[in-house]
Amino acid sequence: MSTVNPTPSKLIVTDRGQPYEMVAEDRDAILHAIAHYDDSRAASIDALKIVQRRHGWVPDGAISVIGKLLNIPGSDVEGVATFYNRIYRQPVGRHVIAVCDSISCFLMGSDQIYGQLQTKLSIKPGQTTKDGRFTLLPICCLGACDRGPVLMVNDNTHFNISVESLDQLLEQYK
Ligand code: FES
Repeated sequence: MSTVNPTPSKLIVTDRGQPYEMVAEDRDAILHAIAHYDDSRAASIDALKIVQRRHGWVPDGAISVIGKLLNIPGSDVEGVATFYNRIYRQPVGRHVIAVCDSISCFLMGSDQIYGQLQTKLSIKPGQTTKDGRFTLLPICCLGACDRGPVLMVNDNTHFNISVESLDQLLEQYK
């Protein structure tokens, strides 16, 4: 079992001009996750998911707070956050559409799907619609290459997507 620094009831950092106060519930959940590993570092992704569940993304200040809880440099936490493409380091819409742009889906027309989504939503990749409903991102192979084109909306994977099916798919996400 790993040890962590003693934690006050509130953890506040002001680095990068982004004060961040972690709620006790999240701090406790992160400490609980740390307790499951021999090396607290292994709880990095759990901690990032806990913070993202709270805000929909991971604010800058939370990176340092997580680092203090895990007793590792914030830069290491940042490294994990940027490695995982489902951890968002800036605000996203209520629903994140991630279109697979790897080779099998590309051969099945994912670029048309991607282009059509950009047109329908009036956004470019990486952007969020004005109403905050959708963010559009690319994503690497989702492991369902035989059922492409594939995209994810939040945690839901959709297979065999066609341009014609997009309206019905988007309607599911208000
Ligand atoms: S290439 Fe798209 S799921 Fe594998």
